[in-house]
Amino acid sequence: MTINVLTLFPDMFDSVKASSIWARAIDSDNITINTIDIRDFATDKHNRADDSPFGGGAGMVLKPEPVSACFDDVTASCPQPYINVYMSPCGKTLSHDISVNLSKFACINILCGHYEGVDQRAIDKHIDLEISIGDYVLTGGELAAMVVIDACMRHIDGVLGNETSTDNESFSDALLEHPQYTRPASYNDVDVPDVLLSGHHANVQAYSRQMSILMTARRRPGLLSKTVLGKSDIEYITRK
Ligand code: ADE
Repeated sequence: MTINVLTLFPDMFDSVKASSIWARAIDSDNITINTIDIRDFATDKHNRADDSPFGGGAGMVLKPEPVSACFDDVTASCPQPYINVYMSPCGKTLSHDISVNLSKFACINILCGHYEGVDQRAIDKHIDLEISIGDYVLTGGELAAMVVIDACMRHIDGVLGNETSTDNESFSDALLEHPQYTRPASYNDVDVPDVLLSGHHANVQAYSRQMSILMTARRRPGLLSKTVLGKSDIEYITRK
């Protein structure tokens, strides 16, 4: 998969691209992440990509010409099928399903806004999907874009190194993930549940499922209605 990020602050992505799973995914060619400086597409002599909003108000608005020229350049050569995304607090809230759907595209072009936003004409011309990462306003779309990229690339074959890694995780079946433990088996006088040390795979699976259901019921009860519960799940919940 190719991800092109259209931004005024391409350097923000450097350390994340050089770290951990992102670095491995990039090195192994499972994913290509290009950051493109919108300023390089500014047409005026001062290289300005933004201007004050018509109608007044604080802050600056990204001008339509550089944003549009940047999209034209990127989409002329990017892999197909692609989708153009704009990071915005006005967008659809990011979810597991959105991240899975995005991972099916060969290319995602992500526009990061700054200041007061982006001229609406550039958005109307190029954007297929606006995404918000939550009901709060960030100073720019870059951190939000990183969240989207991270959530999405985990679903690309090879990125996590283990093809089944995302199968049992939170939200793929609308259940929260069960608590995890590692060595030592006893810490601060708290022991890891015996069943997890038993080596009995079926019992471990049943226990983990029950803990997932319990976590979900306690913390996000609304999610339970989206999960297909089996007879043993229901027996467990009614006992609790
Ligand atoms: N840009 C500013 N705030 C944002 C948010 N909450 N989500 C996505 N992009 C944003």
